[in-house]
Amino acid sequence: MKRKDMWGGRFRQTPSDLLRRLNDSFAVDRALLEEDVQGSIAWAQALGRADALSRTEVSKLVSALRDIGRRPPGPGETGKHEDVHSFVEYQLSKRVGALAGKLHTGRSRNDQVATDFKLYLKKALQEACLLTLDVSDTLIERATSEAATAMPGYTHLKRAEPVTFGHWCLAYVEMLLRDVQRFAQARARGDECPLGSGALAGTPVGIDRKALARELNFSRPTANSLDAVSDRDMAVEYLFDCSLLLAHLSRLAEDLILFSSDECQFIDLPDSLATGSSRMPHKKNPDVLELARGYAGRAIGDLAGLLSILKGLPLAYNKDLQLDKEPVFRSRQVLGLTLPVIAELVRGMEINCRRMHRAASGDLILATALVDRLAARGIPFRKAHEMVGRRIVEASRANQNLRDLGPSAEITGDDLRAMRVELVLGKRNVLGGTAPARVRKAAAEARRRSAKLRRAHA
Ligand code: ARG
Repeated sequence: MKRKDMWGGRFRQTPSDLLRRLNDSFAVDRALLEEDVQGSIAWAQALGRADALSRTEVSKLVSALRDIGRRPPGPGETGKHEDVHSFVEYQLSKRVGALAGKLHTGRSRNDQVATDFKLYLKKALQEACLLTLDVSDTLIERATSEAATAMPGYTHLKRAEPVTFGHWCLAYVEMLLRDVQRFAQARARGDECPLGSGALAGTPVGIDRKALARELNFSRPTANSLDAVSDRDMAVEYLFDCSLLLAHLSRLAEDLILFSSDECQFIDLPDSLATGSSRMPHKKNPDVLELARGYAGRAIGDLAGLLSILKGLPLAYNKDLQLDKEPVFRSRQVLGLTLPVIAELVRGMEINCRRMHRAASGDLILATALVDRLAARGIPFRKAHEMVGRRIVEASRANQNLRDLGPSAEITGDDLRAMRVELVLGKRNVLGGTAPARVRKAAAEARRRSAKLRRAHA
């Protein structure tokens, strides 16, 4: 096929193959076909309302565009078109002849691509909200059933104080609910229609941009044409929000890798979501979690990449901006793959309550609670801390644990008997604390917040 470009008139030579291979973006932006058709239909109708096209012209264009939208390009089409916009125009000319050339009246690919991309991002952001809520809801379920399951809490990866497994789940729920809000806020902030901005200066056609924005389900039109064609904030925010979400999931993954390690054996991953080794027959590996961790790294790189593209760009459109789509498409694909698997894994993992309980009720992890008890009796906290610290050294020298070493001058038998993980957990009955009763309430509250977000963004 002989290629007809959208911009051949002033050129004496045809574009070289080298140029085409570098410049073409159809292999990537073909994913915007639906949005390009949607935007083009709205533009045709807006031209009609502005009397730039007759009614019959509008209806011919609209029905041809609908038809194009129903037939996604085959794999062989890549290489034959510069981008999705020239593909649609070419398809249109096959159906309506010269009339196809009227659709670009007062429009530029610059406001067109900005509009397509925002339509796409609005969908991607909403999808991200719902996928994230699915993971968070699974964690809320587990938090409810494991509200009283003791586990060691860590700082510096050293056993610190006991918490409950439900409390651990709800920590991630908080992160994920913030992520959902961030996605929703990015969507609301970017909900402005660039179409009608022309190449950079605004369209010369008397378009009702407010009506056009409404037509495309945007809240409002963009306010400045130079900004509208060069702004990629919504894409940056999407990449940031994905990066932070994946960073959260990467931490969750890291925790679960540790908990499922041979050293901890606190949890057992479902067989259906683990992998084996080609050489070592006993292995059961957490590849899913490692990939989530890895994808977080790649997403952060994609965010840094787009910001670097933007930082030196003069106004308005520059071709550098064509590179904005791949990272966004990639992130959407990663979320679509990763989030459902994580949800499934959280739902299916088995919890080894006994091992976790044992690890959460050792002498040392309960030492802080002993100090708290002495302090509650009026011994200054610093002094109590010192006393218990010294007792720990004595116990270790005697190769015994604290409780077996027995009472001392200040530490009574009752104090030692109160070193029970259930009692200790029950005392953390403060708002945001790990006491099982609190965790149950917090899980119920999280369920309500999640349902509200789901209703708002369904
Ligand atoms: N394929 C281009 C992109 O994705 C479309 C806009 C082209 N505009 C231009 N002035 N060359 O950015």
